[in-house]
Amino acid sequence: ATEQTFSILKPDATRRNLTGAINAVYEKAGLRIVAQKRIQMSQAMAETFYGVHKERPFFKDLVSFMISGPVVVQVLEGENAVAHHRELMGATNPANAAEGTVRKLFAESIEANSVHGSDSLENAAIEIAYFFAGSEIVG
Ligand code: CMP
Repeated sequence: ATEQTFSILKPDATRRNLTGAINAVYEKAGLRIVAQKRIQMSQAMAETFYGVHKERPFFKDLVSFMISGPVVVQVLEGENAVAHHRELMGATNPANAAEGTVRKLFAESIEANSVHGSDSLENAAIEIAYFFAGSEIVG
């Protein structure tokens, strides 16, 4: 089925001017960018967004990293988009990411791993609604 998923191009990607190169991977694979904005996340936004990880040892560093520079938040649409996007991103740790995936191509470390993508259709809806009004999503 056609789905929408949520994507972040993280501060290591904006810093290295890689937003177009990463989105080229997504677009070549058939995902369509139906909403997009470049923002500076506040600490409160990052803490809320990553709230499920708040007891994890890497939480503080993760929040600091995510507010260390601008991010691009976007909604990607396509057939089976949640799983398709995760396949294109590759494993969380670039050391484990498959050849040709965004994280294998571009990520610097498990923290500075260039991109985020929703892990389920349910979380995609929650994450999209956190950053976008319905009127900002244009298919
Ligand atoms: P993301 O998909 O955005 O979701 C949580 C993020 O935490 C993850 O990508 C990683 O960038 C980051 N992170 C940092 N350290 C770790 C770790 N040890 N295990 C898992 N995720 C980590």
